[in-house]
Amino acid sequence: MVNFKLEIAQILDKVLPLELEEISGMIEIPQDKKMGDYAFPCFKLAKLMRKAPNLIAQDVAAAIAENSIFQEVKPVNAYVNMFVSKEYFVTEALKEVTEAGEKYGRSSYGEGKPIIVEYSSPNIAKPFHIGHIRSTVIGNSLYKLYDAIGYDVIRINHLGDYGTQFGKMIVAYRKWGNAEDVNREPIKTLLSYYTKFHEEAEKDPALDDEARNTFVKLEKGEKEEVELWKWFREESLKEFNRVYGMLDITFDSYNGESFYSDKMPAIIAEMKDKNLLVESRGAQIVDLEPYGLTPAPIVKSDGSSLYITRDISAAKYRKDTYNFEKCIYVVASQQNLHFQQLKKIVELMGYEWAKDIVHVPFGLVSLAEGTMSTRKGRVVFLEDVLNHAIEKTREIIIEKGVNTDSVDETAKMVGIGAVVFNELSNNRIKDYVFNWDKVLDFNGETGPYVQYTYARCKSILRNAGDIVPETCAEYLTGDSAYELTKLLYGYPETVKDAALKYEPSILTRYIVDIAEAFNKFYHDEHILVDNEAEKKAKLSLVVATMNTLKSGLNLLGIKAPERM
Ligand code: ARG
Repeated sequence: MVNFKLEIAQILDKVLPLELEEISGMIEIPQDKKMGDYAFPCFKLAKLMRKAPNLIAQDVAAAIAENSIFQEVKPVNAYVNMFVSKEYFVTEALKEVTEAGEKYGRSSYGEGKPIIVEYSSPNIAKPFHIGHIRSTVIGNSLYKLYDAIGYDVIRINHLGDYGTQFGKMIVAYRKWGNAEDVNREPIKTLLSYYTKFHEEAEKDPALDDEARNTFVKLEKGEKEEVELWKWFREESLKEFNRVYGMLDITFDSYNGESFYSDKMPAIIAEMKDKNLLVESRGAQIVDLEPYGLTPAPIVKSDGSSLYITRDISAAKYRKDTYNFEKCIYVVASQQNLHFQQLKKIVELMGYEWAKDIVHVPFGLVSLAEGTMSTRKGRVVFLEDVLNHAIEKTREIIIEKGVNTDSVDETAKMVGIGAVVFNELSNNRIKDYVFNWDKVLDFNGETGPYVQYTYARCKSILRNAGDIVPETCAEYLTGDSAYELTKLLYGYPETVKDAALKYEPSILTRYIVDIAEAFNKFYHDEHILVDNEAEKKAKLSLVVATMNTLKSGLNLLGIKAPERM
């Protein structure tokens, strides 16, 4: 980044009897842009120079006005008001953007330090439904953002693959299930067993005891139970992976809850040693009342562990294994209490890294009535939503006669991109209603709109033939070119800001702004003009926009089609 403040301080340093640092600290950025990009107050100098401040301002203005960094320098009362030269700015800014090329926006801010992003984490044998999309795509974008700012990111899918419900599932399968159905349609079938179990257990409570005993057998590692459980897990994962494939999402580790089953006794013993556990109606709990939190049960009266026990164990394991700088959990805000408890317990165990546990919560998605064939209570599978988006996009592409390399490929990129973009355009903490018309609007603030703008850049470059773009600021100081350049210049800061605030929507909003600014430039100015130097200059801005849009989309987990 060009540090204008520093450059201006250096210029002022040559004409003022002050230290560089002091000058730098005195330079102001006026609220009112009409007063200049920067301003320097001369009150302090009056005593030192034995002269009225307004006269000093006049002298200083005259002494620095000729510098090429300035468009204009004006003394106003005791102030020196400075307007930075558009040409100077455009030259410096586009030089940086162009030199970075496709790497523009990336930095080494994180110095390669390890950071964990845990996301998606669905439950085995349960539907991967529309509610899971948020954790999945927010997490994926956070991974990419942290990677872009130089961290070594470990992506973890903390599968919900353990717990008493697997006792129920095994009992139900043995009573009413068959292997063929499970193989054909694992999750829907297993879910139906689970539902049936609950119906039957209402009539016959003995089933619950049977399920508990079966889970105990599973925990003890008895062969038949373990094999069934493994099989359910594998079949479920196959379905999840289909969706991850569509979204182009991968993980470094699928160590879920079951991974910690043999690590639990040690962590429970440690908590006991540290006097954290108290007995309550046969169960072992941590009393968190002094911290304004409800007590956290750690061991049930039958000796089995709980969700939070496995999370405590996982946190410790992750610290030992990866020595994370931060461990980020992208999980719905319904689990706020759970993560407050987790963090507090880790802290009470005496681990200073408890502060590095970061819960990144998000609000609920709901479907507007009538947007899909949702009967009340019916779960909406994420895979169906994605396929539906692809289908609808294909219809739009054909109807609009969109020029594409392949209708299938483009429909996939745009349809899935639209759903992902929509997820990430809302401030994550807000609840929102999923609305197809909004998601697929090619003219709104949507994924298709940004992708379309990217494809427009590509198309301009194709039409330009083999001309090598070359920045020449002289031709890029018109209002729309200048505004676009200013925006592009803010990309690296935006990436960092979105990462550090755990808020991909900052980036989403930003690339919509870029797309709008570019389309304004395209509308206001003729790009492929006869004047070679002017054409090259304008094309250099097209390239800079194109690289930034592609990179931005990529950091959101969205592909950019070459034609659209
Ligand atoms: N499997 C859980 C669910 O679907 C989410 C897991 C969140 N991660 C965690 N470390 N507790 O609700």
